[in-house]
Amino acid sequence: MQIHSAIADLRTALKNRGRIVFVPTMGNLHAGHISLMEQARAHGDTVVASIFVNRLQFGPNEDFDKYPRTFQADCDKLAAAGVDVLFAPTESDLYPEPQEYFIEPPGIQNVLDGEFRPGHFRGVATVVTKLFNCVQPAAAVFGKKDYQQLMVIRNMTRQLALPIDIIGGETVRAADGLALSSRNGYLSEAERAEAPRLYRLLNDIRDAIRNGQADTVQLENAAIAQLDAAGWKTDYVAVRQQSDLAMPKGVDVPLVVLAASRLGTTRLIDNIEV
Ligand code: PAF
Repeated sequence: MQIHSAIADLRTALKNRGRIVFVPTMGNLHAGHISLMEQARAHGDTVVASIFVNRLQFGPNEDFDKYPRTFQADCDKLAAAGVDVLFAPTESDLYPEPQEYFIEPPGIQNVLDGEFRPGHFRGVATVVTKLFNCVQPAAAVFGKKDYQQLMVIRNMTRQLALPIDIIGGETVRAADGLALSSRNGYLSEAERAEAPRLYRLLNDIRDAIRNGQADTVQLENAAIAQLDAAGWKTDYVAVRQQSDLAMPKGVDVPLVVLAASRLGTTRLIDNIEV
């Protein structure tokens, strides 16, 4: 696997490499990321991954400084997964001067996760556009675990006419249902044992809707109450339309149930399609 940090070197290395499929990450890779690499392989000739912890998408009180950086272990995993090229820019490679031009997503950036992480999706959209410009892929793979992020990137790519197919990768879960996430490593043993409750509640809501329960607000409130009772601090549990993440007008359209809640200091997000 080739590793490049300078944009010019990356561009040279990617000449005449056929159809390039790109998987951007922030590192601290787990089986969920590796499954995205495997999906990428099926969509093109050259798989390019990136590792870059993007300061722009972290709020002032978030975990940018303590975000786990495990570069050597990540390289070993990517090489074993057959990734061809790793783009691992330093901050000065990607932001050689203060970033003053941004990609500003519309209202979707202010709801759900965006309400609790102001500026997050602007930071994501900006770095992803910049990474797209460095790698110039024909396709890119993003995990469905970050459902709102996937939607922001899909809509941005379409509206800006970027010639890139956006592919959604399925969430990989531990045997007890917990969605794999780099932030799971922050959980204490007791919190790790409690964490699968979030996915169980999402399943309960999905089953209730399938069984004809149409009062989605009541379902959301009941789930929040159960999380509260078990010691969680919940940002949202929300039943939304898959198409635009708006509040559903009925339950006969494709829906998704999304949640973000905090166990101790660790914020977990998850979702399930109905
Ligand atoms: O999902 C992530 O890991 C990040 O938000 C991304 C897409 C790599 C942008 O920094």
